[in-house]
Amino acid sequence: MLSQTPSSPLQVKTLLNLSHDIYIDNPLKVVHLLLSNFPNYMKGSCLYDVLHDLLIHGIFSVDGNLWTIQCKIASHEFNTKSLKHFISNIVNSKISNHLIIYLSKICDKNRVIDLQNMLQKFGFDNICNVALGTDPACLYLENMNHTRSMSGLSFAKCFDDTVDICSSRLMSPLSLVWKMKRFFNIGYEKLFKQVTEEINKYAIEIIELKKAKSDVVKDGDLLSRFVSSSANIEFHNVEHKRRFLRDIVINFILAGRDNTSLALTWFFWLISGHLKKLHYLHAALSESMQLFPSVPINLRLTVDDEVLPDGFLVRKGWFANYSAYAMEFKPERWLDGDGVFQPSYQFRFPMFHCGPSMCLGKEMAYVQMKSVVAAVMYEFEVVVVNGGATAKKMMNPPYILSLVLKMKGRLAVRLHKRQR
Ligand code: HEM
Repeated sequence: MLSQTPSSPLQVKTLLNLSHDIYIDNPLKVVHLLLSNFPNYMKGSCLYDVLHDLLIHGIFSVDGNLWTIQCKIASHEFNTKSLKHFISNIVNSKISNHLIIYLSKICDKNRVIDLQNMLQKFGFDNICNVALGTDPACLYLENMNHTRSMSGLSFAKCFDDTVDICSSRLMSPLSLVWKMKRFFNIGYEKLFKQVTEEINKYAIEIIELKKAKSDVVKDGDLLSRFVSSSANIEFHNVEHKRRFLRDIVINFILAGRDNTSLALTWFFWLISGHLKKLHYLHAALSESMQLFPSVPINLRLTVDDEVLPDGFLVRKGWFANYSAYAMEFKPERWLDGDGVFQPSYQFRFPMFHCGPSMCLGKEMAYVQMKSVVAAVMYEFEVVVVNGGATAKKMMNPPYILSLVLKMKGRLAVRLHKRQR
């Protein structure tokens, strides 16, 4: 549709003209939206309403001052060497102590596994270690065949439920419907209330434990760092501080939980049909994300009437989006003549968003993705049971559109040990 409207943004009006959306696919206009005229495009009420009950005042759902404070603290931490080390140590230890052991058992028994599900468990363990300094050990418990409900596993399940319900809210043609359900506490809105309470309970317990420790490690997990760096911020009371910390960690868990594992899922599906050797891992991952961006919807609400670089008038109250999709798998486009990875002009590759609210976890995501792919592909050949991507399948890929781009059903794979 976008290619058929090359000169102006694609416009979509919803039922009864209740909302007016535009979709942008041109890097110049993406620069305008995410950088030059950043203040005119805010997350706004649409995303805020849908996510607020879970994210409250966290970085993902707020604009303005609240966003600026959190972004400042967090981007400082994400730029420290100590956090980068911490993150790569966690990833490496999870890979060698859990992932490879688990996959080896599967491989020995010649069993088929759902790689998407396994990667999501791995991703959740990882981000909880990084954000909270605790290990829900979802992958380990799967490995041990635990059937009892464990707190880590139920914490993960609560997150799954909340994300599904937030996605249904976002896709709902009339927000009044889910708001009524929430008001009367019925249907999936009742479940939503229960699971967010569980999430809060779990997070608050960990925050209290951390605060009680006199020797919080300032160069450890994110929560410890935020406990330490918020020591100079004035809060109204203890409860206010606890909520501030809760919002930060819940938002980081949501941000880092699924995106990386889903990007990996699509990657394994794609390369199963395309690449035999991985010379260009970074390039191939970037290309895979361009085809299947983990975050497919990035709505912004227009604050005031204004004109795009091509003269198109955008009205106040319209939703502005951009398309992050490419149409072919061609990793070579990321490499120079010597085969060295060259980052693309960032506004041509907005899978991690761009401008002031660009993804803070981009580097962490690449470290995690490259480490997982390298370790898994070194040990095993991953064979997708029904075959991976083909040109025909790419015309209608098996996706579910939600807040994140999940693969429909599962990614069933069998592993073969590599002979060396
Ligand atoms: C392949 C993996 C990932 C992708 C594709 C991705 C993509 C994105 C996108 C598109 C946004 C902008 C959302 C919006 O404002 O509408 C974003 C923001 C963010 N991401 Fe990521 N992300 C990934 C992994 C991570 C990881 C591992 C973390 C680590 C905790 C993380 C932390 C964040 C944070 C904190 C923000 C909010 C930034 C802000 O609003 O200033 N992300 N990400």
